[in-house]
Amino acid sequence: MKRLLHIIASPRGDESRTSAVSAAFLEAFRAHNPACEVDELNVATEPLPPLSIPMISGKYVLLSGGQLTDRLREAWAPIERHIGRFLAAEGYLLSTPMWNFNIPYTLKHYIDLIVQPKYLFRYTAKGVEGLAAGRKMVVVASRGGAYPPGTPMASFDHQEPYLRTIFGFVGIKDITFVLAQPMDAGGEKLRNRALESAKAAARRAAEAFAPQLAA
Ligand SMILES: Cc1cc2nc3c(=O)[nH]c(=O)nc-3n(C[C@H](O)[C@H](O)[C@H](O)COP(=O)(O)O)c2cc1C
Repeated sequence: MKRLLHIIASPRGDESRTSAVSAAFLEAFRAHNPACEVDELNVATEPLPPLSIPMISGKYVLLSGGQLTDRLREAWAPIERHIGRFLAAEGYLLSTPMWNFNIPYTLKHYIDLIVQPKYLFRYTAKGVEGLAAGRKMVVVASRGGAYPPGTPMASFDHQEPYLRTIFGFVGIKDITFVLAQPMDAGGEKLRNRALESAKAAARRAAEAFAPQLAA
């Protein structure tokens, strides 16, 4: 049985616009692939371990080609658990609001925990190799403003380029973005229209995604 990991980065629970769009995705996804297991990780509300000095030292040991000592391995236990949970999935739904033109700090914290040498990437003679290659991702992102390509606001969007870069770095190149925007800047009418259109796009993305995660 395949697994979808749903990573949530809004702390706003039922108030979250991002989660409203993701709910439309998941409903359509489950209708097309009821057997797929869905694991839910809310990085905004489930406390993540701070990156301690031994955790950071472990990263440098691995970067220089060494092995973790028993002491460092102990400090690394939460990192290994999160990486194991991440790699146990074949596909990802990432639900994130835009915060200060990028992702919320809790999602960055999660990325800082899991993107580790020997686990999610390695350096080879040919360059970097992503070790999560072949997996697929749908990102549902909601934004207070709007950042359409070709407009002056597009250069403020550090969210989509960053997520494509960091997940591409670990090998996840097949990423579909579903954007709900503007959620705040244009008033309620525009928000509702943008939400409906994002939900329709999320359902289409789920229909395309579901067969790829069939057993
Ligand atoms: C701390 C914070 C920072 C934000 N920064 C931005 C921003 O830089 N650009 C933007 O368009 N919206 C910004 N917003 C608005 C949110 O992206 C928007 O309201 C979004 O729909 C919230 O998603 P949620 O309801 O799922 O939490 C910010 C909101 C918060 C709380």
